[in-house]
Amino acid sequence: MGAHTTRQLLALCDLAGLGAAESTAYARAVNAALGPVAERPLGLPPGIPSFLSDDHTPVEFSLSFSPGLAPTLRVLFEPASGFGTPAESSLLAQRALRGLAGHWGISTEQLDAVSDLFLPDDPQGAFSLWIALELLPGGTPRMKAYLNPAANGAHRTEETVRAALRRLGHHHTDADLPDGDQLLFLALDLGDWPQPRLKIYTTHHGLTPTAARSLSRMLDGPAPDELEAFVRTAAGLGPRENPRLALRPVQTCHGYTGTTGSAGAFTAYVPVRDYAPHDGEVLDRAALLLHRYGIDPAGLRDALGALTPRPLEDGVGLISYLALAHQHGRTPRITAYLSSEAYRVRPPNIR
Ligand code: TRP
Repeated sequence: MGAHTTRQLLALCDLAGLGAAESTAYARAVNAALGPVAERPLGLPPGIPSFLSDDHTPVEFSLSFSPGLAPTLRVLFEPASGFGTPAESSLLAQRALRGLAGHWGISTEQLDAVSDLFLPDDPQGAFSLWIALELLPGGTPRMKAYLNPAANGAHRTEETVRAALRRLGHHHTDADLPDGDQLLFLALDLGDWPQPRLKIYTTHHGLTPTAARSLSRMLDGPAPDELEAFVRTAAGLGPRENPRLALRPVQTCHGYTGTTGSAGAFTAYVPVRDYAPHDGEVLDRAALLLHRYGIDPAGLRDALGALTPRPLEDGVGLISYLALAHQHGRTPRITAYLSSEAYRVRPPNIR
């Protein structure tokens, strides 16, 4: 499996304009952090039914586009996925994260402050610890840790998130959690970011495009019209349709940098794979969005070609989510989450 994801990562690095040496070093680091599952033959079923991707490949890529700049490549992965019991793989995952952080001189202070809350000896829920790397030119990535609010049981998600917020000094956010029906992830920027963020992800089951208008709590974030238009285009809906998106839910993420309680970043994610017949159509929708934000869609088209030779019409899910990201002081970005499909291609949706 590691050979498959490594080949894809190197091809995407090339498209993102990274040099050969740094790309190889990134690919090696990810492969090592994946642990024994990287050596697992692809003819065997996935080691565990990882929640990270639909076909359970424990790796997902994303490309984030802003006008006039090369796209930023990120890789999300589940270290030590499928190794031993949940407790054992959680321990190995923590070791892998600390190994990577040490290698690049990235401080894990933020994570250390809350690791007892999210990484208990007997972790519950769909995952324990995911790592995302933003693969910057220069050989040192930015690192994020994704933690599971349900680690102490689904009934304790809110309590766990609130405890973490207080511990990290986010008292205002504790008093005013973003809306949503499920707290899905808490993510921490680790190390030396210009403005490290704490991010809270929530789901919005059965959301309508008009209800999407009021999703953002960010002060200078997306306008209601912009959010509605984004959701409509990503979900393939005309201006007069207003159905509930009742399959996989739309998600949002609020990012907090300071401790004033006001969100400095907001992202909306539409799980396009549930709302489109096939990836050809998803790419068309992505191209519409990219054009709207002044971005040439050729980069995304090339990226899909670098991931797989299969015709886009033959499956759905190569792009898992399309996201609109706003961050204080920056132009909005469109991000496409890209599946590895190491194990399976989801057949087209018949409508
Ligand atoms: N596979 C999970 C999901 O689809 C988790 C996940 C992976 C995810 N990448 C994501 C969620 C990007 C939101 C955005 O929900």
